[in-house]
Amino acid sequence: MSSNSGNRFGRFPGEQTNQNNRITFQFDGQSVNSYAGESVAAALIAAGVYATRLSEKGMPRGYFCGMGVCWECIVRINGISTERACRQTVEDGMIVETVKAVKKEWPS
Ligand code: FES
Repeated sequence: MSSNSGNRFGRFPGEQTNQNNRITFQFDGQSVNSYAGESVAAALIAAGVYATRLSEKGMPRGYFCGMGVCWECIVRINGISTERACRQTVEDGMIVETVKAVKKEWPS
């Protein structure tokens, strides 16, 4: 898995990414190349990853709002399972993993 500039928009005024500073992180054990300042979601979409978690029934879930409201994009980052991919900025060497939902057991 690598970054694919074909999935990225062109540069626009006010953009915070630095395309002269490439960084690499891991997603489910594979290397993903990205640019400093990108969100984890943007880097994963550029790499062709559209599902970041699995529902209780094992259905893939991914980005919906892109602004931190819906929580559909949660991933595990460096062992923390409740990070929103669209709100976290990539860091060199970070470990990002798919989150698998755990079936809730309600008290009877
Ligand atoms: S896509 Fe909605 S919180 Fe990340």
